[in-house]
Amino acid sequence: MRSGHFAIPNRRQFLRFLAGSPLLAPLASGQQPPPLADAKDALSVMDFAEPAHHALAPAHWGYLATGVDDNATLEANFAGFRRIQLRPRRLVDVSKVDLKIELFGTIWDSPLFLCPVGYQTAFHPQGEVAVARAAQTTKSLQVLSTVTSTPVEEVAKARGTPPWFQLYIPSTWAGTEKLVHRVEAAGCPVLVWTVDLLGGRNGETGDRFRRTDTHDCTLCHTSARGGVRNRPMLEGIEGAVNPPNATWELVDRLKKLTRMKLVLKGIETREDARLCREHGVDAIVVSNHGGRATEDLRPTIDSLPEVVDGVGGQVPVLVDGGFRRGTDIYKALASGARAVGIGRPYIYGLAAFGQEGVERVVEILRAELTMVMKQCGTPAIAQITPASIARRQP
Ligand code: GLV
Repeated sequence: MRSGHFAIPNRRQFLRFLAGSPLLAPLASGQQPPPLADAKDALSVMDFAEPAHHALAPAHWGYLATGVDDNATLEANFAGFRRIQLRPRRLVDVSKVDLKIELFGTIWDSPLFLCPVGYQTAFHPQGEVAVARAAQTTKSLQVLSTVTSTPVEEVAKARGTPPWFQLYIPSTWAGTEKLVHRVEAAGCPVLVWTVDLLGGRNGETGDRFRRTDTHDCTLCHTSARGGVRNRPMLEGIEGAVNPPNATWELVDRLKKLTRMKLVLKGIETREDARLCREHGVDAIVVSNHGGRATEDLRPTIDSLPEVVDGVGGQVPVLVDGGFRRGTDIYKALASGARAVGIGRPYIYGLAAFGQEGVERVVEILRAELTMVMKQCGTPAIAQITPASIARRQP
């Protein structure tokens, strides 16, 4: 662990967290990766983690790094990929590779999309605008968070086309109507309601980091617990978000409220997948919120097959959670995912190098995915099937 930059809240516990995380293991073992002078020098998306760590105030790094409780679900997401093997087929003409996918009638250059991550100016002064520009140059799907630091209208302008919008549902219906109408008026085609934080969470690692941060944060924050002043999408909306009394009935109301497609993010079970289908949900994101919602210990790559099965091919299923390699993405596609989201990796790129860092993260993952598709004899996405992988028993 680097010294001097900030103190570790509970060093022993935190080192255990790092040691369990393939992403951060080099830090825990005391190895110093060579500094990255240029985003282009990064060989893998993990190469951006330490530069991001360096660039960020402890509280902001902690917000990004944290899982919940013991961070075991965050770690489980990585471990899940290690239990799945590839079944490469040989002597297939792979001279042309096609990464394109279709979602709601739009063709995307690859199955990789940028997940909603809140408060992106905490990571780089250009925040969501830099990410929007990177999404534009790489032709990537971007999902903007309700707690974006930049209003949706500005992000749409920077990207040249409106993003998908992630919804944290306000606790009043009036607030919900106001927010949803604003997002629709900005031209967003898809609303992604995150349903995995309705009972609260214990982001303990984030809390520990925040306690070590000695910056004067009163300009941006309302309290020592990190209440953020700048939440432009929630301006003029009374009360909190994520009401604990939300039920499937709200899905029906949202469907009636808007012409946007409605996606539910945070689904992990076959039962809920079926309910999504019954309630006319347009797509599902299998997600455990990057291990930062419920310490359920279930990697999303393990939840994915039952969700795919639950909707019986009738609803597109997307997934996120711990994707750091092209092979990880490949395994999700083989398990029935239509698209795969990343969160922390592109924020590492953003924190370290702004727009260019985000672009390089996308470029690396696409290159890795291209290579594994070639090596496995599946040069088009549709050729990647359950037969492309073997799942080891845990
Ligand atoms: C926001 O979505 C977060 O996980 O903090």
